[in-house]
Amino acid sequence: MSTATIHAERARVLVHESLPADQYLLRLHAPECAAQVAPGNFIHLSCDQSPYRLKRPFSVMRSAPAEGWIEILYKVVGSGTRALATAKPDDYLHCLGPIGNSFTCSGTTRRPLLLGGGVGIPPIVFFAEQLKKTTTVTPMVIMGSEIPFPFKVQPSTKLVEGIPGDVIAAMTLLEDLAIPSRLTSKQNYAGCYDGYIHELAELWLQTLDSAARAEVEIFACGPTAMLRAVANLSQSYGIPCQLSLEEYMACAVGGCAGCTVLVEQNGQRAMRRVCVDGPIFSADSVYPQHR
Ligand SMILES: Cc1cc2nc3c(=O)[nH]c(=O)nc-3n(C[C@H](O)[C@H](O)[C@H](O)COP(=O)(O)OP(=O)(O)OC[C@H]3O[C@@H](n4cnc5c(N)ncnc54)[C@H](O)[C@@H]3O)c2cc1C
Ligand code: FES
Repeated sequence: MSTATIHAERARVLVHESLPADQYLLRLHAPECAAQVAPGNFIHLSCDQSPYRLKRPFSVMRSAPAEGWIEILYKVVGSGTRALATAKPDDYLHCLGPIGNSFTCSGTTRRPLLLGGGVGIPPIVFFAEQLKKTTTVTPMVIMGSEIPFPFKVQPSTKLVEGIPGDVIAAMTLLEDLAIPSRLTSKQNYAGCYDGYIHELAELWLQTLDSAARAEVEIFACGPTAMLRAVANLSQSYGIPCQLSLEEYMACAVGGCAGCTVLVEQNGQRAMRRVCVDGPIFSADSVYPQHR
């Protein structure tokens, strides 16, 4: 997991699209960030044009280095994101980024399993796209949401062993890239698995023999309850797992220690800052089996 160099930019709003259930897609012209950002990195973004307003952290979902833009996908939850939702094309927002470490496959991983829940979907999309474009491995992607998915969904044309035959809903962007994906929800959305992300992931894992399972590594981002369930799953199958954590952030550059979490490695406990030491940590270090 490498760590990015942080740039401060006045980012121009290029596109700001309203999606169902108070979700928004925001494309920003931020060339320095776009040139360096990696999957899992986030930006710290002012929610209006004032440089004095507290910023909010958002994962980057896509970038186009040649065109100098990055995209984030966010949900309105409080005052900051409500203000951000009023930004218009050609407005300027203050952007710090890219920040934090990134998802990285270990050398033995041939079957990355990518899991994204709710506002944890963006870095998973970024990582899936990067793996497909820059490596020879094709990930399996499972994403879940309890509100309408903030992207185009279609029936998949790809059969995936271990996935029930009626679970066919897939993300169009990933289908176009020939990346297998499936969607989960408890809201009875057509073609989705009626349950949680880790449950569908387990059905998929169960169909693999031990040699194939040894090639799996799990990468996940989403709500805390989901990350805990994914950590349990990885530990019960002995599969390495990287989790992207969310914490309240004030500075986001390592100065205030407002975002620390307890981690444990080789029996040693330590406090780590989610913004600059993370946001990605191994599941075993944040959820050791005995704790
Ligand atoms: C590394 C990182 C990446 C993130 N990526 C995304 C993303 O891609 N898309 C997205 O929609 N959201 C993302 N978030 C969460 C986003 O930062 C919060 O939703 C946002 O800060 C809320 O601000 P607000 O002023 O609208 O809400 P507030 O009024 O501050 O809070 C409303 C609610 O949001 C939650 N919240 C506030 N701040 C945070 C925070 N820093 N982390 C977690 N929960 C928080 C609290 O539960 C609170 O009840 C990310 C958070 C982190 C730490
Ligand atoms: S938010 Fe200040 S150290 Fe992480």
